Amino acid sequence: MFDSLPLAPPDSILGLGEAFKKDPNPNKINLSVGVYKDEQGNTPVLASIKEAERRLLEAEKSKGYLAIEGLADYGSQVQAMLFGKSHEIVTSKRAITAQTPGGTGSLRVAGDFLRKHFPMAKVWVSKPTWANHTAIFAAAGLQTDVYTYIAANGQGLDFDGLIASLEKIPAGDVVLLHACCHNPTGIDPTPEQWKKIAAVVKSRGLLPIVDFAYQGFGDGLEEDAVGLREIVAQGVEVLVCSSFSKNFGLYGERVGALTLVANSAEAAERALSQVRISIRTNYSNPPTHGGALVAAVLNDAALRQQWEEELAAMRTRIHKMRHLFVAEMKKLRPEKDFSFLINQKGMFSYSGLTNLQVDELRTKYAVYVVGNGGRINVAGMTEQNMPALTKAIAAVL
Ligand code: LMR
Repeated sequence: MFDSLPLAPPDSILGLGEAFKKDPNPNKINLSVGVYKDEQGNTPVLASIKEAERRLLEAEKSKGYLAIEGLADYGSQVQAMLFGKSHEIVTSKRAITAQTPGGTGSLRVAGDFLRKHFPMAKVWVSKPTWANHTAIFAAAGLQTDVYTYIAANGQGLDFDGLIASLEKIPAGDVVLLHACCHNPTGIDPTPEQWKKIAAVVKSRGLLPIVDFAYQGFGDGLEEDAVGLREIVAQGVEVLVCSSFSKNFGLYGERVGALTLVANSAEAAERALSQVRISIRTNYSNPPTHGGALVAAVLNDAALRQQWEEELAAMRTRIHKMRHLFVAEMKKLRPEKDFSFLINQKGMFSYSGLTNLQVDELRTKYAVYVVGNGGRINVAGMTEQNMPALTKAIAAVL
């Protein structure tokens, strides 16, 4: 039966991570998978998480199943992070949250839920978007299409194009928006632009799915929620897919959340009953460990403070690397202006490297960058690898 199966291509992002591991070059540099590296090039366990883990191990009495929607405590902490602790959405209980295995798990549960209850709804994603978005919704059996996002020069937002594009989406369709730190471009709307986007979402009668994988990596935990809060301020229903892989450094623990905001607490409860079915038929119930760690950190004032400081340090280091990269490239290739990278947010930026240049970087210099726009993970840059990295890029340009 399996003899006739064709070989699938490697994943466009995770496949590069695997290829990087196998590369014997001692000077290899990985700017592909979205994983944070510290100045030594490591992805450490955060100290706040280590401490929460120590406490958890001591207190843990059972490895029993969680509820299908996960830990209740986790759900309320997630909602407080998204909307603010005493936001009307939280106090009126018209939001429900399910703990999911990573942001991807949450997107897939959202996809299955939408396919079952709104099968005709098409999911509109930005052009470009994270490669897995389209694949996840297609796997759930939903149709996808694209809206305009990036300007023709590849360096900023085509805001007029974006609005014109959103205005053409039929009512009842789903629009996937990146809350902050747009993946793969690092190009985010300003707070003013978010107001307009939110107004169009409302006036067109669209259902937004807000992918929130990088809260705290842009300008700060609260600042990064501005877009989402503008959307909910319009009184529209929303789905939010959170990931805590990056901001808690819990990549391999698979910690995420699906939050659904309905018009009333009753509607939210009914929606939760349906989300439970999507989860039960997918992975039954979520793994405990990562969610318990996030809840433990957020519930403890001292641990939370420590985590916020660790998150700020990651954000600041990425920002510093953006500046250093631009300054180094200016020295090597002054005619190529990379200063647009400075204002971009989060881990990623579109470097503008062609697929040919991306290939050459990998094969000649063991520098790993994602193709189709040359997405670079700025969080993979360090002061140590910067000279070799910028020299390699200057050489292929
Ligand atoms: C990325 O975009 O590199 C990360 O979100 C990791 C992934 O799962 O693709």
